[in-house]
Amino acid sequence: MDVGRHPNITLLTYSEVEDVSGYIGNFKVKMRRKAKYVDESTCNACEECVKVCPVVVPDEFQMGFASRRAIYIPFPQAVPSSYLIDMEACLGNFPIACGKCMDVCDQNSINYDMKDEIIEVEVGTIIVSPGIDMYDPTEHDEYGYTKFENVLTSMEFERLMGPTGPTAGEIIRPSDRKMPRTVGFIQCVGSRSRKKGNPYCSNICCMNTVKETLLLSEYSSDIKSKVFYMDMRTFGKGFEDFLKRSKEHGAIYIRGIPGEIEEDPRTKNLILTIEDTMTGKIEQHEVEMVVLATGITPRVDSEGIRKLLTLTTTSDGFLMEQHPKLKPVEAPTAGVFLSGCAESPKDVRESVQQAGAAAAKAQILMGQGKVKVEAITASVDSEHCTCCGICAKVCPYSAITVDVKNKIPATVTEAACHGCGTCSAECPFDAITMKHFTDKQLLSMVDNYLEEKQKEKIIVFACNWCSYAGADFAGISRLQYPDTCRIIRTMCSGRVDEKFVLRAFELGAPIVLVSGCHYADCTYINANRWAQLRVEKLWNKLERLGIRPERLQLEWIAASEAVKFAKVMKEMEEMRKKVTIEEIKETEKILKQEREKKEAREKKKKKK
Ligand code: FES
Repeated sequence: MDVGRHPNITLLTYSEVEDVSGYIGNFKVKMRRKAKYVDESTCNACEECVKVCPVVVPDEFQMGFASRRAIYIPFPQAVPSSYLIDMEACLGNFPIACGKCMDVCDQNSINYDMKDEIIEVEVGTIIVSPGIDMYDPTEHDEYGYTKFENVLTSMEFERLMGPTGPTAGEIIRPSDRKMPRTVGFIQCVGSRSRKKGNPYCSNICCMNTVKETLLLSEYSSDIKSKVFYMDMRTFGKGFEDFLKRSKEHGAIYIRGIPGEIEEDPRTKNLILTIEDTMTGKIEQHEVEMVVLATGITPRVDSEGIRKLLTLTTTSDGFLMEQHPKLKPVEAPTAGVFLSGCAESPKDVRESVQQAGAAAAKAQILMGQGKVKVEAITASVDSEHCTCCGICAKVCPYSAITVDVKNKIPATVTEAACHGCGTCSAECPFDAITMKHFTDKQLLSMVDNYLEEKQKEKIIVFACNWCSYAGADFAGISRLQYPDTCRIIRTMCSGRVDEKFVLRAFELGAPIVLVSGCHYADCTYINANRWAQLRVEKLWNKLERLGIRPERLQLEWIAASEAVKFAKVMKEMEEMRKKVTIEEIKETEKILKQEREKKEAREKKKKKK
């Protein structure tokens, strides 16, 4: 409500973002404001329309335990507190004459002809707070969620207990509308499982169950709670005390998850069979109601958000932050911040913390009015640019614009460029330079390393954020790895150009390693996928030329994987020892001929 009243905040409810273009400081957002068919500026929520509406449909907010009319307020605390019409359910006023709500509305707020409105706004920063979906336990057949009326999800139970719920806070079991005397809670439904549901911990379910047991004991001392769990995760401030209180109030915690639930058809009670892992005994527990502590899943539409904002997701479907430790609020796209459960399941306290941090970060940027970019961005030499559009296609941030049709050369929006260098590595015409990581600089490092004793050198291209940091970590951890490695730092593995690798082989390198962040962890969204594709192409090329492709290696090494870094280097060293002088000489000869042929072709082309 504070937000709704704030003079500097425009609240666009019942609206959907359709398009986002631009970059940090200059985003253009196109939104569809859906028609509510009720003018919220005049509606005073008198409720007369609801009284006359003849249409009854299940109430989504009450999880189907109650019904609503076609004209309704989505939930009691909705802001603004005005009605909207569910047009799919409404009978309308033409050709079938209903229009009863219209007749009774003193304010003339009802307008059946209201249309969706398209709004475009310019904003400097964006905070993404998409909310969550709850895991659907229907695939857990063994718990009988679809078969037994008295098996509920934690969200349904929450509604049932809520003062604004369908029973105004009266706790009853659905089958006989009587107060249950025993309630069983089953933890981790849809969480921490690779077979059904999701492999991650949903973070909130343990404490939610603890809270519900306490609410039940406050509601009536006749209700007994039994919690069936794998382990209770109570690591937040005051959480352990909360669990202790729940136990003191009579809740029983049993370490064992039921294999299945059966129903006594006469009493509708539920029988849970479990193995108590503390005692090793198989037990049966009879309860009158079961609550499944269902986990959290990413919003069903988070893929759409990801595409709109050029973000990336982790394997579990949540949005990825720029850095899990150092930039947990920033999205990889500059000027976009994440809050709530956008990037992982969170409880209220964590959500509030992250929302505050995201708002502060956005405000700092807007307060400055300027953006500092690192001096490592791409720049295009328009004379060499042939407008092929490859750079724009591979840029993870859509920072490059090129008009392929009208042959207008590529331009880089510096504020959006993060300097990964993928465009430069992919450009077939060498028309893109990366400041401070130019081809010349990187090639001269290759040349330098291979000036002498080439047979004893392993050339390692390491991305700044993971593999290079992994090497650093190995160093400060005093881990031993062969001194034959020569590391060349690039901002991302996506920067490693084919010509860097070929030059290293031509100058006599026995082994070349390209290394970067793990596949889904690239700091530059998906730039390392282009590195992978490039290395795969190079393997084919080397094979075609009669050079052993195994001499080019690709490894993903995280910043924390110092041990892995040292291990990989030892493996490279073993490979290096197996490369003979003859093989190196032969490679040098082949690649020299190839290069000369290419140069001759280019010369001919230029002459023409
Ligand atoms: Fe490490 Fe892209 S930043 S591979």
